[in-house]
Amino acid sequence: MRLPLIAGNWKMNTTVDEGVSLVTRMRPLLDKINGVEKLVCPPFVSLVAVRDTLAGSTVKTGAQNMYFEEKGAYTGEISPLMLAGLCEYAIIGHSERRQYFQEAGEMINRKVKAALKAGLKPILCVGERLEENEAGKTAEVVTGHLKSALVDIKSPDGLVIAYEPVWAIGTGKAATGKQSNETIGLIRETAGKLIDKATARDMRILYGGSVTAENIAEFVSQPEIDGGLVGGASLKADQFVAIVQKTKEVKGRI
Ligand code: PGA
Repeated sequence: MRLPLIAGNWKMNTTVDEGVSLVTRMRPLLDKINGVEKLVCPPFVSLVAVRDTLAGSTVKTGAQNMYFEEKGAYTGEISPLMLAGLCEYAIIGHSERRQYFQEAGEMINRKVKAALKAGLKPILCVGERLEENEAGKTAEVVTGHLKSALVDIKSPDGLVIAYEPVWAIGTGKAATGKQSNETIGLIRETAGKLIDKATARDMRILYGGSVTAENIAEFVSQPEIDGGLVGGASLKADQFVAIVQKTKEVKGRI
């Protein structure tokens, strides 16, 4: 049994005070919902304050990115050792990092390895762009992302994969549950070949891209989809709580 996971990716939104206020409002409501793992990924500068606000709560924290080196002259970067102990997860290879910060193959692989080494659970993002989708290249792109990101990864404790079609992110144009289930099935099969079958069977794979309280049921009712990586809707307490609640209701039934 894979425990469903709903992860909120706040991206470059919220000041420290706004982040604290957001989790202060969500916390009592989210703590009432069991059977779903709940995660918020605030900006780096808010991680400590958000973690402290969530002390004793079932809501976990994660980072949106990290560098692969442990320390040194890398001005402006955050190391896995700084995050370990502060949060449990780190999103790696998000399409916005690929698009705006030139992250790709080897760098993403090094980040996944560094996160695992530091005891952080990576949420590795993969997904095709619109033109790739329209050219029928979804399977090729997604398996390519996995092949390069998972080089030499043997026992990825806690590794989560998020399938995020780039054309669905922030556009209000979500993929369909059926399409995503097929692609996520392919991701699981590919991870099985690259790592091993048992690991792939037990690994959580999320859908991300314009997830809302209205459409989450369509995704989590699919057998391969274990939850969501939620951007815009994770910044609204009532929406995020409703997404977690719906996930519990749907996954509780199947
Ligand atoms: P969105 O973002 O829910 O705002 O589309 C998802 C993501 O990029 O993780």
